[in-house]
Amino acid sequence: MQRIHIIGAGLAGLSAAVTLGAAGIPCHLISLQPSERAQSVLAEGGINAALDTMGEGDTPEQHFQDTMRGGVYLADPNAVANLTGGAPEIVRRLESLGVPFNRGEHDLILRNFGGQKRKRTAYVKSSTGKIIMTALIDEARKYEAAGLIRRLPHHAFLRLMKENGQCTGVRIRDCYSGMTADLPGTVLLCSGGMNGLFPGMTTGTTQNSGDVTAAVFAQGAALGNPEMLQYHPTTVGIPGKRMLVTEAARGEGGRLYILRGGEKWYFMEELHPELGNLSPRDVVARTMYFVRREHGGSVYLDMTALPEDTWQKKLSDLREEIEHYLAIDPKTEPIPVQEGIHYFMGGLDTDAEHRTNLPGLYAAGECTCQYHGANRLGGNSMLGALYGGRRAAQTILREGLQEAPDQQPEFREMPDALDAPASPGFIRPVSDILLSGLGIVRNEQALDAALGALARLHPENAREENRLALAQAMLLGARERRESRGAHYREDYPQQDDSLRKTTIAVFADGQVHVTFRPLPERRM
Ligand code: FUM
Repeated sequence: MQRIHIIGAGLAGLSAAVTLGAAGIPCHLISLQPSERAQSVLAEGGINAALDTMGEGDTPEQHFQDTMRGGVYLADPNAVANLTGGAPEIVRRLESLGVPFNRGEHDLILRNFGGQKRKRTAYVKSSTGKIIMTALIDEARKYEAAGLIRRLPHHAFLRLMKENGQCTGVRIRDCYSGMTADLPGTVLLCSGGMNGLFPGMTTGTTQNSGDVTAAVFAQGAALGNPEMLQYHPTTVGIPGKRMLVTEAARGEGGRLYILRGGEKWYFMEELHPELGNLSPRDVVARTMYFVRREHGGSVYLDMTALPEDTWQKKLSDLREEIEHYLAIDPKTEPIPVQEGIHYFMGGLDTDAEHRTNLPGLYAAGECTCQYHGANRLGGNSMLGALYGGRRAAQTILREGLQEAPDQQPEFREMPDALDAPASPGFIRPVSDILLSGLGIVRNEQALDAALGALARLHPENAREENRLALAQAMLLGARERRESRGAHYREDYPQQDDSLRKTTIAVFADGQVHVTFRPLPERRM
């Protein structure tokens, strides 16, 4: 049987690989960094599943409703129904793999997370991603030993192989030898978010550069909702990136305030009394932006009232991290926080079965767009990656297997136009331009100016051209969506417009980016 080629070895890629392995189907797990250093390792706060272990009467249907409401009804309802329905089994399976979720006397303890009315987030202190990844890597070793998973770390995706509009394989480069190989067969992209477009400005690693998304976009794969970026409310600038202060801090009782007339004003509690500090991230980030604009100064996260027990059993690693990077003990002193780019709700346009518009090409994890709509709920990211990787693999098992021999990759000297990286002298202006248009508050004038500035840049190689097209798609999506919805807030169109409850679709054709809107499917079940 021909191997499936998975690009990306984080949660989504690993989840797909072990699903294929369990079915006896071989795959390559191709990534710049080994799984041990994937972005998923940095995920902190937890994973959502309506397990109802806290006696609140939670159900997958309520999880569905919260996810749809949190994403302001822009997610694919069928994909979300699959995700939320599958979540309890995903978490129980992790438990069976030995993930030591925080437990009470009888079962898992679930914590509060933003935008949800029930305790639904299973966690391992605030290192949930690291511990889940450890368990999955171990599970993958079983299939590796059987020859089913072949890991190719330190290998870069260069391009898809295509014939007659279909994806027929992938070209990769060995980062150490510089040699290139063409691998024929079905391709699953799990290449993560587009952090590399915003160096230093995101909580994610710039190893997830967005170059895979940019390359396949230029090769004909459509994007969905590229304008939807998530600003996480509680991040702190440290050299080279933004450090995440997990939402779990607020889930466990942390409160946001600003000084108003010299007094602490816990503005979320007053302005958004229903969910307060745990309102959806777009609401918290926007409110922080506006109260800071009005009152000046910093917003602070106050965790000083958290009991010692909470610090020890639930947030000890967060406390260590804050002490290490900021030299502040959050148990005794509030910390200044600011909104920072954390997640890309938009990405490759995929249906509920994880197919892209190119036959033979599938995608899962943060590089896709179907689960989170206009704003992702905290705790749904690891779920989306794990569930999505598995679902994509199941789709491939049904329809993407090819009867052809499983060959070893043949590496050879083969120059490719995509060998040369984008240069810092190009990346920085693109990032500045994107930030000028895609802030928490947007408007047509700034978006037009950003599009004009992009058009004046001179890309010097194919990767820069691809990045430019991707950046254009994000800005055009934001300009054409003349309404406010979730993370996309237009001060010139501050209302939601239900005629735009549609997926923004961007395609690259005839050397240009084209943006249209596609109606969402009806919920089937
Ligand atoms: O704040 C956090 O721990 C982030 C979690 C998430 O984005 O799912």
